[in-house]
Amino acid sequence: MRLIKAIDYGDMSRKAANIVSAQILMKPDSVLGLATGSSPIGLYNILVERYEKGDLDFSGIRTVNLDEYKGLGGDHPQSYRYFMNKYLFNRVNIPIENTHVPNGLEEDPEKAIADYIKIIRSLGGIDLQLLGIGNNGHIGFNEPGTPFELEFLCVDLTDDTIEANKRFFASKEDVPRQAYTMGIKAIMHAKKILLVASGENKAEALAKAIYGPVTPDVPASVLQLHNDVTIVGDEAAFSKL
Ligand code: F6R
Repeated sequence: MRLIKAIDYGDMSRKAANIVSAQILMKPDSVLGLATGSSPIGLYNILVERYEKGDLDFSGIRTVNLDEYKGLGGDHPQSYRYFMNKYLFNRVNIPIENTHVPNGLEEDPEKAIADYIKIIRSLGGIDLQLLGIGNNGHIGFNEPGTPFELEFLCVDLTDDTIEANKRFFASKEDVPRQAYTMGIKAIMHAKKILLVASGENKAEALAKAIYGPVTPDVPASVLQLHNDVTIVGDEAAFSKL
């Protein structure tokens, strides 16, 4: 595991953007596993700037996102498909059909699971998986206690996560109670993993993930078992290491 210490959010975003840019330059048909949330927005902005300058080409890139709220369609402003279109896909030259986000409107979890696993496999696996980390140590929407061996699943969101994500919704009641997410097994199959973390509210989860026991109680702790993980954190996020 490689730890890269950044000064603040901007520095974290630049350092992480360098790693993603290198991946795109070295393998222009890379499969990128992507995340939403506050952590990667700065990184996405930098990728867009580099695309606008002519330094990055997304025309051959394929993407698979980690997760989506169950019940939200892509035109819902809080859906993760909407987020990805807004912050990245609509701003670079990636063919939209090369981008994949779980279908939040699929009501049948069995079908949603089978469909997304098929997509990931058809892409030939993930070259670089980008992750954030929840205050409770979740990655994707794999909440504490989720078994490691699932490839894709429908989860009940914990109160911690609903509380943390309510900032994006009109009220806590509007936050969906369930989500579809890539499981730990699919995340661990990625060739490389890049986790970005900023802020003191991530410090404890990050310390447990890096130095604590590997346990489903801290889903990100599983990353200790992957052979190519880079964590870029700012000073506040690394303050408890
Ligand atoms: C989002 C995702 C989540 C977030 C995590 C951190 O696609 O999978 O695991 O990465 O909840 O969220 P932020 O970055 O908003 O603190």
